Amino acid sequence: MIVQHDVTIVGAGLAGLRAAIAAAETGEKLSIALVSKIYPLRSHSVCAEGGTGAALREGDSIELHAWDTVKGSDFLGDQDAIEFFCSQAPKEAILLEHWGCPWSRTDQGLIDQRPFGGHSFPRACYAADRTGFHEMHTLYERSLMYDNIIRYNEYFVTSLIIEDNHIKGLTAIDLKNGEMIGIHSKAVILATGGAGRLYEFTTYSYTVTGDGMALAYRAGVPLKDMEFFQFHPTGLLPSGILITEGARGEGGYLLNNKNERFMEKYAPEKMELAPRDIVSRSMMTEIIEGRGFKGPYGDYLLLDLRHLGEERIEERLPLIREASIKFSGVDPVEEPIPVRPVAHYTMGGVHANMHTETPVKGLYAAGEVACVSIHGANRLGTNSTMECLVFGGVAGSRAAEFALKNDFEALPKDVVAKEESRIFDDFMGRDGDESIAEIRDTMRSTMESKVGIFRKGDDLKEALRIIKELKNRFNNIQISDKGRVFNTDLTSALELDFMLELAEIVVLGALKREESRGAHYRLDFPKRDDENWLKHTMAYYTEDGPRLEYIPVTITKWEPVERKY
Ligand code: FUM
Repeated sequence: MIVQHDVTIVGAGLAGLRAAIAAAETGEKLSIALVSKIYPLRSHSVCAEGGTGAALREGDSIELHAWDTVKGSDFLGDQDAIEFFCSQAPKEAILLEHWGCPWSRTDQGLIDQRPFGGHSFPRACYAADRTGFHEMHTLYERSLMYDNIIRYNEYFVTSLIIEDNHIKGLTAIDLKNGEMIGIHSKAVILATGGAGRLYEFTTYSYTVTGDGMALAYRAGVPLKDMEFFQFHPTGLLPSGILITEGARGEGGYLLNNKNERFMEKYAPEKMELAPRDIVSRSMMTEIIEGRGFKGPYGDYLLLDLRHLGEERIEERLPLIREASIKFSGVDPVEEPIPVRPVAHYTMGGVHANMHTETPVKGLYAAGEVACVSIHGANRLGTNSTMECLVFGGVAGSRAAEFALKNDFEALPKDVVAKEESRIFDDFMGRDGDESIAEIRDTMRSTMESKVGIFRKGDDLKEALRIIKELKNRFNNIQISDKGRVFNTDLTSALELDFMLELAEIVVLGALKREESRGAHYRLDFPKRDDENWLKHTMAYYTEDGPRLEYIPVTITKWEPVERKY
């Protein structure tokens, strides 16, 4: 079956929903498909906790937000994009307010804002510590107003159809019955989120497997800066569930086994509210040097909130209290929380400019799947949910304008039948003896142990060898469920296929980048090297593995300086 929609959006989290609304507003008569492999309100965006950044108050400014973001990015962020992003952020926060987002409030009834790491002003608009959940509900409800948004929930996208550098649509499996469909489109927006399930200890939902990045890459679109992976300082043990930076924004602090607030040594001014790359590295240093606590789930440090008191914790941080009690058996009102740095955000992604355009005509990317790049080598907390709002909005209106000006282009012959055969004959027909779960576990433990917070050449070479071997083994997997109805064996295999592709790019990019910048720290090259490495990595698909090229960073007014906090 082939259906036709003017604009198709893949992913229905914050960026996807915001894009759908913007597209629907831009072209009332356009037909807009919103495709998601899960139901929208199960998207990982609902897990965002601590806040959404915007300069709203006197004393703060767009310029200051931009400078914090540039410095936070370790000067790898593109400054024109960052300035644009910061200038749009206040509008988006207020738009959500008008659409009914239940922001936490000041006594005067204004949107309250809390401090966050690397920001020099309290800039995080928040809704207790369920910010993403409330933003998602606000956008979802708003999206229901538009009859021209057609929903494809529980459809798994398997390929992008690109010919002569034009997007023409995509193929997707209807998970409820296994039917392969083609969606013929003038414009496509990727809004599928990051790739955090490459790692073992991670804050990401199980669904975050880098699908959009891998789909684009395989279709010939370059991925940018994939070696930069963010580790959030405070993952709850043993699950990895996020303990929001908002907890430190509210005054929580980190302790080692000597009961010391060790951040004093590493970031004397900002302490626990230094950017994430710095806090995570400091925590790992404490652990490596023997000042962590030992436990059945590995070493850890403590996040102490007790001094905040029950009332404040209940008002501002109810979710993390509940998660700590349920998943770690610790009530933060009574005891400090056991935490360790955890994989949290993919700074790299589909190469896109500040208009969300990729190099392919009609193909746009917004949110974590994209690398615009506003985060450079290290994202500041709160800039992710806001990125989804700002660039989701841009992508929606740009794609709609494109669709209003252009006609449908003919689809390649038999494109759906060919994809159906690739998936259901070749892929599902595999009957080897390799287990999907085992390959996935080995990939994740390799990424965790060799491509983590501290990296070195030998480990990265070994990781690359292992990932290549896993890719070979993957050709010999067994998909034991041969049915078509909700075949999670098949979708797990498709997701693993995507992740192996991305793991190789992350490792290769990290191996080649012989410097330390932001979240990419090489023990064998511990200094930032602007002379040789102030540039973006671009990874292009080839049958023999990624080919890397480099492009310059856009500097508008802030020359790189030493980064101190
Ligand atoms: O800590 C947090 O609440 C995470 C926020 C973010 O990643 O922006």
